[in-house]
Amino acid sequence: MVSLKLVQQSNAALRSATSSQVSLFVGATSGLALATVIEYARQSTRPKIYIVGRNPSKLSTVIKDLEKVNAQGTYIPIQSEFSLFKNVDTACEELKAREKSLDLLLMCPGYLKIGRVPGLYCPCAHQASLLTWWTADNEDGIEDTISLRYYVRARFIQNLLPLLSSLPSSRIVSIHGAGKEGHLNEDDLELKHTFTMQNAAMHTSTMNTLALEAIAATHPTISCVHVFPGIVITPGFDVFSEDWALPWRVLFRRMVLPLMKLFTTSLPESGQRHLFHATSARYPPAEVKDPPGAGVARPKGVETAKGADWEDGTGCYLLGYNGETIGDKKLMDEYRHRGMGKKIWQHTQEVFDRALVKG
Ligand SMILES: NC(=O)c1ccc[n+]([C@@H]2O[C@H](COP(=O)([O-])OP(=O)(O)OC[C@H]3O[C@@H](n4cnc5c(N)ncnc54)[C@H](OP(=O)(O)O)[C@@H]3O)[C@@H](O)[C@H]2O)c1
Repeated sequence: MVSLKLVQQSNAALRSATSSQVSLFVGATSGLALATVIEYARQSTRPKIYIVGRNPSKLSTVIKDLEKVNAQGTYIPIQSEFSLFKNVDTACEELKAREKSLDLLLMCPGYLKIGRVPGLYCPCAHQASLLTWWTADNEDGIEDTISLRYYVRARFIQNLLPLLSSLPSSRIVSIHGAGKEGHLNEDDLELKHTFTMQNAAMHTSTMNTLALEAIAATHPTISCVHVFPGIVITPGFDVFSEDWALPWRVLFRRMVLPLMKLFTTSLPESGQRHLFHATSARYPPAEVKDPPGAGVARPKGVETAKGADWEDGTGCYLLGYNGETIGDKKLMDEYRHRGMGKKIWQHTQEVFDRALVKG
């Protein structure tokens, strides 16, 4: 485990290691990614940070908070209902019109639902109040939580690869479910017929991992990091009590959640740890092994991490909340042997094509 002290030491060195890096945060209007972007601004000299978010007032609050934390930085909101691919494309075009390169792409959008209503289409699947516990397909024809946890992230990656690979080194971080990979239902990758909360978590975790491995293999100057954050109490947990009677909701939010916080990773610690995952030379791209290209120099006692293939520094990393490599080597070896990374990218491309033709 990388101790929090070493994480903080590395983050504090960010100020001298980087000057004006350009980064894009997706899903940073709340929770894990918000904690990370705040920490990033705090520890950097003159960061240039783009934040894609759907809610204009939340976006402007985040921008104001970042300005308070570091007035030297440049913070640019991109307002977009980015759960749909066409809007991801527009958001990426907006970025591309302003930047030729990107140092960091960090993504953590998503929310929890326990089941999918089969055959139901809902243009704003996430907003429909009758669906508090349930989810439906969005306008792209994909179940909304699955899309945010995998397909939307893949679309950002695909669109922004030219910017990420134009630099000697860059990094992609997807905060979701590293180590939670499992046997995919290959006949139903989108879980049209076999949706359960567990299947959705496992499929999106596995596809994040396979896609990132495929990217790292073909883009050896990009470090690809997939992280499981552990359990961190964020506003995302409010969903559990959304349709409860007021007294129960108050009890849950004022007593149960604070109690749970005692036994889980705190949000500030999580932000610091994700900043480390996003910037440390412990997780170098396959072709760039040394700082500054590989990231902030490793503090004494911190080794180069093992990649998803359990070899040192191979460019794609599956991390637990504590920065250590995790995952089922046998399963991943089997997938690698079968070229599943490439197959998942092909499938993803087909889903994009289908959705965008329809739109
Ligand atoms: N917290 C944990 O314990 C935990 C554990 C494992 C994995 N995760 C990962 O973290 C993700 C959730 O992050 P969190 O815990 O930080 O939750 P959160 O505080 O609710 O933040 C979720 C982020 O996703 C955005 N989002 C939600 N629904 C969206 C939609 N339909 N369209 C566009 N953006 C949407 C939110 O935007 P708004 O601010 O506009 O709502 C917010 O920026 C999960 O999906 C999962 O991938 C979290």
